[in-house]
Amino acid sequence: MYNVEIIGTGSYVPEHRVSNDDLAKFVDTSDQWIRERTGIIERRISLEENTTELAVKAAQRALEDAHIAPEEIDLLIVATVTPDYFFPSTACLIQQRIGAVKAVSFDISAACTGFIFGLSIAGQFLKTGMYRTALVLGAEVFSKIIDWEDRNTCVLFADGAGAAVLRRGAEGIISELIRSDGSGAGHLECPAVPLQNKFSACSTEKRPSYTLMNGREVFKFAVRIIPEYIEKVLTNTGYTLEDIKYIIPHQANTRIVAAAAKKLGVDQAKFYVNIQYYGNTSGASIPLALDEMSRQGLLQKGDLFIIVGFGAGLTYGAQLIRWTKG
Ligand code: COA
Repeated sequence: MYNVEIIGTGSYVPEHRVSNDDLAKFVDTSDQWIRERTGIIERRISLEENTTELAVKAAQRALEDAHIAPEEIDLLIVATVTPDYFFPSTACLIQQRIGAVKAVSFDISAACTGFIFGLSIAGQFLKTGMYRTALVLGAEVFSKIIDWEDRNTCVLFADGAGAAVLRRGAEGIISELIRSDGSGAGHLECPAVPLQNKFSACSTEKRPSYTLMNGREVFKFAVRIIPEYIEKVLTNTGYTLEDIKYIIPHQANTRIVAAAAKKLGVDQAKFYVNIQYYGNTSGASIPLALDEMSRQGLLQKGDLFIIVGFGAGLTYGAQLIRWTKG
């Protein structure tokens, strides 16, 4: 088996900023409530660019950062729950736009855990030697599937894209775990098209494609899963939490991070948080944070960090990674 490392990252968010006060103009909420209950101050909402557009920009930045040409990509995976089309996949559209002519390209659906799932799937192909280079993206225009009258959800979610280039090489991904629990599927969902055809008398209820969330259940789940999987991904690696420079959690709520830090007995500063500026960008949140950290010079060669996430499905997982870029 080969080792796999991250050799480049990129991200992109739409220009348009939406403040909490902007939201308070059309739903019964306030800047104070949103800041205190979620940590979010503002978010980016797309005015014109769809998911593919955001992803293409993030992908190009990642390729530039990795110093590789698009033709070198063997595998292109996009984690998204807000594709432009049912088909073709967002990955195929991106492949064409960036000129990744050799890449086998497909989307995966694991909601906010999508990037972690994508990294893991890509990693397996690289570890076995089947492919050498992979581009993994998390990209969402979540604003498309939000009911802007629903204060439970519209204050949380937002748009963005993040990308990472993976290559066979040094030992970057040290350990990983991905999991799902379909018994919690109803806690966070977005209906698709109803069952309806010429041959069936049955027609399932036509419901708008908006996000429906049981916030309290998801919160409880996240507070349990985040610390548990941070500990689990360290098991049998010879490393402890003290060796970890940063934990990059899915950016969902600062109170989830505070609770996880408390449970683990670690300083909250170990968790990298940028939700205040971007809200919850679902599958994009972790690669967006990772790229921001890389560009700010927060990660030095050799540093260990953990990415950990959860989302609809329910899905969850974590990776222990060594930063191998110089
Ligand atoms: N503005 C103002 N008040 C709001 C509000 C909003 N946007 N949303 C809910 N409220 C109200 C509720 O109606 C409730 O009022 P009541 O006490 O009069 O009934 C009160 O605030 C508390 O509601 P509650 O649902 O208990 O709030 P909370 O502290 O649990 O925070 C979430 C709500 C959604 C922020 C929180 O549950 C959460 O973050 N859950 C996880 C969601 C998540 O991470 N989703 C993405 C997964 S990838």
